[in-house]
Amino acid sequence: MSSLEISNVNKFYGPTQALFDVSLSIGKGEFVTLLGPSGSGKTTLLKLLAGFEAASGGRITLGGRDITELKPEARNFGLVFQGYALFPHMTVRDNIAYPLKVRRMTRDQVESRVRDMLELVQLTRFIDRRPSELSGGQQQRVALARALVFKPEVLLLDEPMSALDKKLRVDLQEELRRIHHSLGTTFINVTHDQEEAMHMSDRIAVMNHGRIEQFDTAFTLYRHPASRFVADFVGKSNIFSGELVPGAGGQGLDFRGDGLEVRLGLPGPAAGKADLMIRPEDLSIETAAPADGRTALAAEVLQSTYSGDRALYALKLANGREISAYGAARTGIYPEGAKVFLCFAPSDATLVG
Ligand SMILES: Nc1ncnc2c1ncn2[C@@H]1O[C@H](COP(=O)(O)OP(=O)(O)OP(=O)(O)O)[C@@H](O)[C@H]1O
Ligand SMILES: [Mg+2]
Repeated sequence: MSSLEISNVNKFYGPTQALFDVSLSIGKGEFVTLLGPSGSGKTTLLKLLAGFEAASGGRITLGGRDITELKPEARNFGLVFQGYALFPHMTVRDNIAYPLKVRRMTRDQVESRVRDMLELVQLTRFIDRRPSELSGGQQQRVALARALVFKPEVLLLDEPMSALDKKLRVDLQEELRRIHHSLGTTFINVTHDQEEAMHMSDRIAVMNHGRIEQFDTAFTLYRHPASRFVADFVGKSNIFSGELVPGAGGQGLDFRGDGLEVRLGLPGPAAGKADLMIRPEDLSIETAAPADGRTALAAEVLQSTYSGDRALYALKLANGREISAYGAARTGIYPEGAKVFLCFAPSDATLVG
């Protein structure tokens, strides 16, 4: 069942268009992340959902009800925005209780809800502290509790972890996932960190220049990117530009370009320009050309980056093109200048788009 429906939404700031015909259909209880580079329109879309900015065109519905024109208060969405800080003079209890007091709940109801939320974010023992007496991660968890305490249907998060260090970010990602799982609330999270997006989301909307490039699971985005932008932005990739040409022996279509020829054997008579993607982990680095029919590209090692479990290599192909590949690093690392073969099966190469 679809809960939040964004249909053909546009947004202008004066003459600047920040969103172009954005449409997304988000299921009830889904964890969706808006992922994109700086300026791609993520915060703008979230502000439209929150009701802080008015859409210049298009419609937003929640459970079939048109909320496009509704004021923020009437939407009843939970918000964790940058700069949407805790009240510094209030204790943790009072910060979390605030949205309930605004909603005129009784004192007992408030206290019981506050305690439930503190248990959820595992901060019960900090109930009487002020924000200044908490770490950055703990403050964010209080902000999360405050945003969820009135049981909103939808929680909007704008880069809630951007100010935290890597370790805390990962902890809070786990926490968010657990909380999402236990509540069943629809979460819409904004980030420009593709790892964070992949770790947490049911689906990811990749944004670029105010447009949705692709809305899919992390797996589909990574293995079957719909555009070159997505292939580049989500994970590391090697992209070869070329064309689809009639295959050898008249069997389907093959790829040729950028110093590469790959027997794809794709169906269809249509040929034309194409981008072929090979992820660095799909290349196997070997010292001799394989005899098993896989494609082998002669390459020279330019640089290696060792990370314990593996090494990332920058290499150069015979035509001068650079390419990256991961190698196992249990027994050693290829030195700079080493001559190797990058081997792959045609099924490891993916057409982009
Ligand atoms: N109030 C505003 N007035 C004019 N232009 C704006 C306004 N807010 C945002 N923009 C423009 O709209 C575009 C999208 O901005 P937005 O803040 O949505 O990007 P973002 O994806 O959230 O970026 P970041 O990752 O840096 O937070 C940008 O080009 C920005 O300059
Ligand atoms: Mg932003």
